[in-house]
Amino acid sequence: VSEGRASSTAFGAAVLRAVHQVVDDPPRILDDVIAPRLVGPEVLESIRADPEPFLTLESKGLRSHIVMRSRYAEDRLAAAAERGTGQYVVLGAGFDSFAYRQPSWAGALRVFEVDHVASQEAKRARLTAAGIAVPPNVALVAADLERAGLREALVAHGFDPGRPAFFSWLGVMVYMSTEAVDAIFAFVAAMPASSEVVFTFAQPEAVVGISNTAKAAAAVGEPWRTRFEPAALAQRLRRLGFSALSLLLPSEAHERYFRARRDGLRAPGRARIASALV
Ligand SMILES: C[S@@+](CC[C@H](N)C(=O)[O-])C[C@H]1O[C@@H](n2cnc3c(N)ncnc32)[C@H](O)[C@@H]1O
Repeated sequence: VSEGRASSTAFGAAVLRAVHQVVDDPPRILDDVIAPRLVGPEVLESIRADPEPFLTLESKGLRSHIVMRSRYAEDRLAAAAERGTGQYVVLGAGFDSFAYRQPSWAGALRVFEVDHVASQEAKRARLTAAGIAVPPNVALVAADLERAGLREALVAHGFDPGRPAFFSWLGVMVYMSTEAVDAIFAFVAAMPASSEVVFTFAQPEAVVGISNTAKAAAAVGEPWRTRFEPAALAQRLRRLGFSALSLLLPSEAHERYFRARRDGLRAPGRARIASALV
């Protein structure tokens, strides 16, 4: 992702969330009433007119991952809110729509969406086109996660580093350098106890091979750069001071989200999403 250009992969993820609303069977894994409005009537019409490309194994596999990661993050966020966490930071927010379809329990949350300025402007434009206002408890924070200054940028928008926060970091880490990834983990690890980050990661190519998703991302100028083997990741996080790391294993993902489905959406075959607790 270059700072000056809106992310294509972010729009691709929003399209798949929209597809999930109009093509897949209810109940939805992720109820995202905003995604269809964000992608706009033309894209929505083309999905409805020709859903075929989204019915392949590969498309269903990627869609399963995309909708599950948001659902899992929001489930963990709900638990964090219940234990009193009042701040939610969406790192590399893209077209994440939680802020625009907030459930009743989210009223007391302050939400901070962080993204490159170009991607954020693209989102603002789509929100405006869809007639969706930015709610008063939501701040759009333009920042480059490769550079220092995330903390200051958040604080400038009212973030309190002295109080627990929940972070989601979905589909972003792979696009970042290892140094910048470590800096984000270190920032979260320095937050008060009970803060948490839910993130996706990719395992090394030697383990999982070269995925078509990674190839497609590289083809639109957003190559995957950072991969972790789970045991090494756990060790890294312990060193940084996290008290616990839990991977969402395929068996658990199946039980939680896919068990009764008949539409071909399936739990991803490998752990790619995790939660680390301060
Ligand atoms: C694949 S999209 C995922 C978007 C969203 N989290 C989701 O789940 O749909 C990756 C997002 O990360 C953002 N991103 C990547 N590198 C970034 C960086 N260095 N600083 C800020 N944002 C970044 C992109 O602009 C894009 O919005």
